[in-house]
Amino acid sequence: QGLKDANGRPIEEEWMEFDMDRQGFSQEYQQLLDKIRRRTAVVGVIGLGYVGLPLASTFHSAGYFTIGFDADLEVISALERGQSYLEHLPNSTELFQQLSDSEKFHATSDMSRLKQVDAILICVPTPLGENFEPDLRYIESCGRSIAAARRAGQLVVLESTTYPGTTREKLLPWILEGGCESSLGRDVFLAFSPEREDPGNKIHQMASIPKLVGGLDLPSSNLASALYESSFKQVIRVRSAEVAEAAKIVENVYRSVNIALVNELKMVLNKMNIDIWEVLDAAQTKPFGFHRFDPGPGWGGHCIPVDPFYLAWKARSVGVKSTFILVRRSREEQEQEQEQEQEQE
Ligand SMILES: NC(=O)c1ccc[n+]([C@@H]2O[C@H](COP(=O)([O-])OP(=O)(O)OC[C@H]3O[C@@H](n4cnc5c(N)ncnc54)[C@H](O)[C@@H]3O)[C@@H](O)[C@H]2O)c1
Repeated sequence: QGLKDANGRPIEEEWMEFDMDRQGFSQEYQQLLDKIRRRTAVVGVIGLGYVGLPLASTFHSAGYFTIGFDADLEVISALERGQSYLEHLPNSTELFQQLSDSEKFHATSDMSRLKQVDAILICVPTPLGENFEPDLRYIESCGRSIAAARRAGQLVVLESTTYPGTTREKLLPWILEGGCESSLGRDVFLAFSPEREDPGNKIHQMASIPKLVGGLDLPSSNLASALYESSFKQVIRVRSAEVAEAAKIVENVYRSVNIALVNELKMVLNKMNIDIWEVLDAAQTKPFGFHRFDPGPGWGGHCIPVDPFYLAWKARSVGVKSTFILVRRSREEQEQEQEQEQEQE
């Protein structure tokens, strides 16, 4: 759907068997692919938080000259001093020291330097607005900064978690700033690649987590895949940016719903004097069809409490009222009701 080569010809099934050097791609495409292959491409990461900083470090370690952009001057100054502000990251002291000592890493808040960058990776927050609607203001601000500094031959990849359609419907117009859509796939390339980082997880570290990549068109998919393949162990190309966006949010909704379910089961079984842990130990002996989630304090972190609202909002915008996606919310409401009932008793 909507996948086209540089000449505007639709690309259907064969695109999954991609040929990066296929005839017909633009000169800008060929030049950027060549830079990625030689690792002479400059990588820029916007937003140097829990996601962006390890990502910048991953590309820096792979040999790319890397520029980190952040709006927060304290972040820039801490990076220049080699002083960690992300305590949960494993080896954070060494990581910050390594970046600050390196001539191949710069940190800046000067967004005009985006002009120097060949591949721009966006890792800014995606919070909720007052009415639990998606708040894309940080992505918009990045899109507008990119538009102001844009030159031909740049790849932009959105990594922030968001609802399906954001890259094509929102980020692309912000970057093109009312400009010509036909420049997509010729002199500007756009893709989505979700961040599956789990800060503090010592087993699954960034470069070893399979990386999903979906472009807005074939040239964008090719370039984004080539870039990530040079630095990550496994890259999985999906058909479109929308598939990649949806995959990430589905992963988090799946967790959110299952956490809600197991916590509810614990309450129910408690009342029956049955130990949930024994039940889960027993249930997980089934070799198929059961994936264990353990009861816990509920939802935490940046993502699980927020992401379901993004999908539910998008579902509503296409006329679907979702029952399960926001099960978390109704659960909280249920608990509040229970507390109120207990107080009244
Ligand atoms: N933290 C996680 O565990 C995790 C995991 C997977 C995905 N994500 C997603 O990744 C995205 C980033 O999350 P995070 O945890 O790294 O956020 P964070 O708050 O740790 O870092 C974001 C950084 O972006 C900077 N920033 C904001 N707007 C900017 C702008 N316009 N220009 C330049 N810099 C700007 C902030 O100053 C901050 O340093 C979110 O969409 C989040 O949902 C987070």
